[in-house]
Amino acid sequence: MRFGGLTAVRSVDFTVNSGEIVGLIGPNGAGKTTFFNCLTGLYVPTEGTVAYQGKVLPPKPHLVTQAGIARTFQNIRLFANMTVLENVLVGRHTRTKEGLWSALLRGPGFRKAERDSEAKAMELLAFVGLDAKRDHLARNLPYGEQRKLEIARALASEPGLLLLDEPTAGMNPQETRTTEELVFAIRDKGIAVLVIEHDMRFIFNLCDRVAVLVQGEKLVEGTSDVVQADERVVAAYLGEPFEGDPGEAEAAEVEAAEAAAETADADDTADADDSGAADDIADSDSRSDADTSGVADSTGEENDSTTKGEAQ
Ligand SMILES: Nc1ncnc2c1ncn2[C@@H]1O[C@H](COP(=O)(O)OP(=O)(O)O)[C@@H](O)[C@H]1O
Ligand SMILES: [Mg+2]
Repeated sequence: MRFGGLTAVRSVDFTVNSGEIVGLIGPNGAGKTTFFNCLTGLYVPTEGTVAYQGKVLPPKPHLVTQAGIARTFQNIRLFANMTVLENVLVGRHTRTKEGLWSALLRGPGFRKAERDSEAKAMELLAFVGLDAKRDHLARNLPYGEQRKLEIARALASEPGLLLLDEPTAGMNPQETRTTEELVFAIRDKGIAVLVIEHDMRFIFNLCDRVAVLVQGEKLVEGTSDVVQADERVVAAYLGEPFEGDPGEAEAAEVEAAEAAAETADADDTADADDSGAADDIADSDSRSDADTSGVADSTGEENDSTTKGEAQ
């Protein structure tokens, strides 16, 4: 995906299997939200396609929703002056033949459909813990509850895949914990979840697999354990140098100092250790490149995919 001269997402090949919770992490500006926007048809990728259950999706948001992909937004997008219940009813309109206006205008011919819709919407509100606030205006909800309402509204379209863009941003630890439980419960309903989040504890507790996006490219993808232990991920978040390297450099310095103490020729020993450390850094750089392309290749070969996005 390119914006003028800026390539926000480049050749990201990514698969979410049914029954999985997958995390998408990466520094600010890495292209995570842009990737979601490509998946959901808000942006038309400059190149590449999005497939869901084996079918390529047209880049049109309502068709993507109809196909079974729902999302929440990093910047909450609710109907602020509608009630909590009405917001969820709006989310259901893709699944009711009466459509959006009947949900809002309540024509006399639609009472039964409306009652069914309302019952389903109330079920969802209970599921996210907002049933007691059904008649509150969305804008009067605390921030954390607005995020949960967005999730309820997304679920109202009965998705097979739910995309969450920073669902715990602005939440306190207690709210974050309940959101974690909520995501597990969503997965237990049989919905696959792809979640962007900066809270690493949240991500690594929750996700079966995690992909790391840096400057629009997928740096690494794997289980939580593998990604957590990957020095490139730490580097991407903390900036250079790699976490392991200061340790190595320190160890080299200590060795050099000890060697210097033991030998009369201290200068030569220190020089030799320095160049050794530099070689190590160069080696780990080239290893990174090889690993990254390996991961991308194997992802491309996966077959039983729920959804698969490739965007450039
Ligand atoms: N509509 C747009 N027009 C131009 N540039 C954009 C647009 N959307 C995102 N970008 C740029 O693309 C890059 C990735 O942004 P984004 O996907 O929001 O990152 P993230 O969600 O990982 O923080 C940023 O440099 C951002 O400024
Ligand atoms: Mg974002």
